[in-house]
Amino acid sequence: MRILVTGGAGFIGSHLIDRLMTEGHDVICLDNFYTGRKHNVLRWIGHPYFELIRHDITEPIRLEVDQIYHLACPASPVHYQYNPVKTIKTNVIGTLNMLGLAKRVKARLLLASTSEVYGDPEVHPQTEEYWGNVNTIGIRSCYDEGKRVAETLAFDYHRQNDVEVRVARIFNTYGPRMLENDGRVVSNFVVQALKGTPLTVYGAGSQTRSFCYVSDMVDGLIRLMNGSHTGPINLGNPEEYTILELAQTVQKMVNPDTDIRFEPLPQDDPRRRKPDITKAQKLLSWQPTIPLSEGLRHTIEDFRARSGISGSTHPVDCVGVD
Ligand SMILES: NC(=O)c1ccc[n+]([C@@H]2O[C@H](COP(=O)([O-])OP(=O)(O)OC[C@H]3O[C@@H](n4cnc5c(N)ncnc54)[C@H](O)[C@@H]3O)[C@@H](O)[C@H]2O)c1
Repeated sequence: MRILVTGGAGFIGSHLIDRLMTEGHDVICLDNFYTGRKHNVLRWIGHPYFELIRHDITEPIRLEVDQIYHLACPASPVHYQYNPVKTIKTNVIGTLNMLGLAKRVKARLLLASTSEVYGDPEVHPQTEEYWGNVNTIGIRSCYDEGKRVAETLAFDYHRQNDVEVRVARIFNTYGPRMLENDGRVVSNFVVQALKGTPLTVYGAGSQTRSFCYVSDMVDGLIRLMNGSHTGPINLGNPEEYTILELAQTVQKMVNPDTDIRFEPLPQDDPRRRKPDITKAQKLLSWQPTIPLSEGLRHTIEDFRARSGISGSTHPVDCVGVD
């Protein structure tokens, strides 16, 4: 199959491309390199089944493809808040362009949506039926509302133009190739621990998150794309950890001598986040398989290799970590 991956040079996109290329597909990676890196897909450059196109999805493009994994959009608050208007354009105009392309060439499009569509949820864990509690005018709104509009567009193209769509609501995903400076909690803690600086925990660290390892996420996305269910479907790891537990785990695995420093909570920071993945389990026969301790080990090793810091990762035996 000929498959387009928008945002393919990014964190999840590049792991997805690794899988698709390994499965023998013809893959086009389209990226404007805002948060993606050519290095992430370097191993495929020159491969006869791989093409890399530098392109901004807010501009239309004509391509012949069978499937589109539409991932292009900065995912971390630091990057999507840097130019919020651009973030909205990417989510709205970019998604319109990709749905227009899907309509023209009769391709199936999978939209990488997000758990942020649930905002600061009043329902726990979040099922796909929950409509969310989102601030329309906050600093996270460009991303949260942008993705909500992207979902709306996907379903309107489906109803109005028979475009085959799949909508994945992705929850926190982590793993090798995350950017060091993206402000996400896993990368923050790993970088801080490797540098030997205090790990920053916002509030008391009692807010919870779930963490899905990237290979599990890629597996879920591929199953959703090739299955018969439109979605939206939650993809994430339902194991819930407090931020403080995560900090303590990384601290033990990397550098037990580092301190933990507490700072005030940023605006609109959700208190709890945990997917209900019943639908994914039933409809896609999917659930995460990589325990946090194993995923963290791979992630720490990747960050360590990139930062040039030598030393080994300590095995961890700590409360709350599978
Ligand atoms: N990582 C997570 O935890 C997570 C959680 C929920 C949803 N998602 C979604 O998954 C997708 C991939 O996330 P990621 O973590 O790999 O992020 P990422 O920032 O690593 O990847 C996004 C990619 O899109 C590219 N991009 C951004 N704007 C573009 C534009 N206008 N035109 C072309 N390319 C553009 C970037 O350069 C980058 O390569 C995103 O849509 C994100 O919203 C991710």
